[in-house]
Amino acid sequence: MIFLGGSGLVGSRLRAVWARDAEILAPTHTELDVLDAKALEAFIASAQSDSVVNLAAWADVDGAEPERGDTRGVVYRLNVEFPRQLARLCAQTGKHLVHISTDYVFDGVNAEKPYSEEDQTAPLCWYAQTKRDGEVAIQGVDPTACIARIEMPYTAARHAKRDLARLVATRLSEGQTVQGVTDQRITPVLLDDAAAAVRKLAEARYSGVVHVAASDWTTPYDFARGIARRLKLEEDCVLPVEFAQFAVTRPALRPQHSWLDVTRFANVFGDAILKPVDEALDMWSRQWRLP
Ligand SMILES: NC(=O)c1ccc[n+]([C@@H]2O[C@H](COP(=O)([O-])OP(=O)(O)OC[C@H]3O[C@@H](n4cnc5c(N)ncnc54)[C@H](OP(=O)(O)O)[C@@H]3O)[C@@H](O)[C@H]2O)c1
Repeated sequence: MIFLGGSGLVGSRLRAVWARDAEILAPTHTELDVLDAKALEAFIASAQSDSVVNLAAWADVDGAEPERGDTRGVVYRLNVEFPRQLARLCAQTGKHLVHISTDYVFDGVNAEKPYSEEDQTAPLCWYAQTKRDGEVAIQGVDPTACIARIEMPYTAARHAKRDLARLVATRLSEGQTVQGVTDQRITPVLLDDAAAAVRKLAEARYSGVVHVAASDWTTPYDFARGIARRLKLEEDCVLPVEFAQFAVTRPALRPQHSWLDVTRFANVFGDAILKPVDEALDMWSRQWRLP
């Protein structure tokens, strides 16, 4: 199995989980710059594995905004041009590609029901637009590829990039308060569950778009209080805030109700892999303080 972007927040946990029983080839950024077209081509052509999981991306939502509209910028090249070239190389060499994408492809205005794979995409910020354009680019050159959209990944394993759960746990354990949005529907995915789900998609050589998220929804406020409760921290230090108040503090526009419907995944692979939020948080809290 080839992993690109295996040192990132998502990639490092997927690698750690898969490494228990799978052979993984995960070149670092230094070993392979994915924006170096010739180096990428040589790597994909020579790699023995017939499966590629792509987690290499520009994933800094606010940091992408200064490049808005710049199709020669690094954000566009990493999120659109590189996935297009990778998909083309995978198609040429018979390798199956699982490309990781995001709930941010949606505008999040729908509070009535979670977004399905059939729903219209409508990205709000440059990061989101390039991720959506990357999906389209891949589908244009390799219809056998799988595009797995994940949402708000979190893990108990340490990583330099702090996910929402770690941010909440760290601040509360330092006696600080955190803001929790009350009017936002989210389906955050525990990375161990995402690892199992992506593994299934890769092994099945699944084609097309599929959502990989929690099987029910919560709000950031309830999610943060759930963490406080499980770690025996002060629940009242989670302060309710409305999405509109929170959103104005951020440079990039974000979707409000960025919840994902995982029915498609469950119909093919069963409903035991992608868990409800409470069950996943129970597992997270048992693992908390993983190295
Ligand atoms: N984190 C989230 O909240 C979230 C939510 C939804 C979807 N996603 C998606 O999940 C995927 C992974 O996100 P993440 O949070 O794990 O991102 P991340 O922590 O920023 O990791 C990105 C990875 O890409 C690598 N990379 C960047 N530029 C490269 C280059 N030119 N050549 C080779 N490698 C390069 C990085 O390596 P270096 O660090 O060594 O440069 C790193 O391993 C992305 O597709 C993202 O859109 C993330």
